[in-house]
Amino acid sequence: MQHFIRIAVCLLPLVLAACGGGSSDSNTTTSAPTATPTSAPSAATASAPLSLSAQVGHKLFFDATLSGSGKMSCATCHDPNFAYAAPNNLAVQLGGTDMLQPGTRAVPSLRYKEFTPAYADLLDNPDGVSVPGPGGGFTWDGRSPTLADQSSIPLLSANEMANASPADVVAKVKAAAYAPLFLQAFGSDAFNDTTKAFANIQAALQAYQMEDQSFHPFSSKFDLYVANKIGGNMTAAELRGLTVFTDANSGNCASCHYQGAGLNGSSALFTDFSYETISVPRNMDIPANQNAAYYDMGVCGPARTDHLPASPGAANSFCGLFKAPTLRNVSLRGAFFHNGVIHSLYQLVHFYNTRDTNPEIWYPTVGGTPKATPDASFPTYGLITTQYTGGTVQKFNDLPAAYVGNIDPQMPLDSRAPGATPPMTEAQMSDLICFLNTLTDGYQAPANPPAHGTCVD
Ligand code: HEC
Ligand code: HEC
Repeated sequence: MQHFIRIAVCLLPLVLAACGGGSSDSNTTTSAPTATPTSAPSAATASAPLSLSAQVGHKLFFDATLSGSGKMSCATCHDPNFAYAAPNNLAVQLGGTDMLQPGTRAVPSLRYKEFTPAYADLLDNPDGVSVPGPGGGFTWDGRSPTLADQSSIPLLSANEMANASPADVVAKVKAAAYAPLFLQAFGSDAFNDTTKAFANIQAALQAYQMEDQSFHPFSSKFDLYVANKIGGNMTAAELRGLTVFTDANSGNCASCHYQGAGLNGSSALFTDFSYETISVPRNMDIPANQNAAYYDMGVCGPARTDHLPASPGAANSFCGLFKAPTLRNVSLRGAFFHNGVIHSLYQLVHFYNTRDTNPEIWYPTVGGTPKATPDASFPTYGLITTQYTGGTVQKFNDLPAAYVGNIDPQMPLDSRAPGATPPMTEAQMSDLICFLNTLTDGYQAPANPPAHGTCVD
């Protein structure tokens, strides 16, 4: 979100206690497919037995026969052991009938998506302070309004599960061992109408993601901390990291990765569902990017088609906008940002810190002379490890020049001058990473916590 300072509502432990927990929505699960993601189960109710629809969804999610290759299920890219994101550090995954067709974006985690409202150009911001702006929706560009709708993208994309048609998918489900369960859930004539059967497949995948506790466990150290539970004692380093995260004058991460009370009764999702342009470097590991004329510009296309510029380069405030994703389980990721260009949290926080002060280590230089050995002061954590004499840094090289004005000016990416002092110190970034590591689900408090260490003292 642009131009408005957000207030970090949940900064102190006592306030956090009031902010913790999930939605207090419905306590019931029925066999009816859930049409919209608004009746999300809370952490407490999610352990209830799955509805029949969700049970079907569970089978579908792990069924590799639902792909043109016979080798790829949803779980191939959305691995439950990696918070339902990719189990590797590839920027994009390979799929298709031959399992050799590259994707164009990094795989997001599917955890905590059930609270996401449909995309709107003017979504109310959950922080209650920011002006309404682009927000909500599924995928990095928000082009899909519901989890059910979204599922047709991977099922039918030629470079993902590569089914020829919805009918192709329905035929595979009809032949699957769980076909009787499908009939039980959706009626004895459920395979007769292909359109209806495909819609029920989509509804079942949504129901599974909505209902199964593994998609919203709220079992991180941070969750124990906000709920004042045993084992939730944050270390001094982690608490300092939380302060950096929320401090408008240093990390300011909470401004977009909002950790307060959210929409649909949610809380501490570490996203406000908003879209910003932060203009990460182009990733040449994505084969589509070999074509110099191709730009993935998020909300303004090309994958999304309802906000396209009137003509190439025509003014359009939606170009370059990508969703600020949840940061829960972020330490399990091997590739960060929509194009997977960054591969560690260490590198990522340094990108936020030095995109503007040291653009030469993030974006390529043209026309310069490479130095045989970089100066001792030349940072080594960037994407570019060659130092140049002269030349021009191609800053924001993954966004056409016409849209550089869309870049969000908030801290820590406040466009300060090259060579200026960056917003965070090394110690603050180290603490910030310690804090981000507390957002990983499945936390078990150690019996004998270490007395000292980087993330302790
Ligand atoms: C080949 C890898 C791959 C497979 C297989 C795959 N996905 Fe995805 N998934 C992705 C990628 C990449 C994205 C981001 C797409 C984009 O932004 O356009 C994504 C996005 C999503 C999202 C949106 C998440 C968000 O943050 O808004 C959901 C939900 C989802 N996938 C569910 C599924 C389901 C259900 C299946 C099986 C039917 C599936 N995926 C199969 C790679 C995959
Ligand atoms: C102005 C809003 C904004 C601020 C402030 C901000 N982010 Fe982000 N963040 C985003 C957006 C937008 C993306 C997605 C960008 C893209 O993929 O092109 C993102 C992506 C990320 C990702 C990648 C997650 C993934 O699943 O790949 C991480 C990690 C992250 N941010 C951490 C931080 C941290 C840490 C801070 C504070 C130092 C911070 N962000 C500050 C908007 C913001």
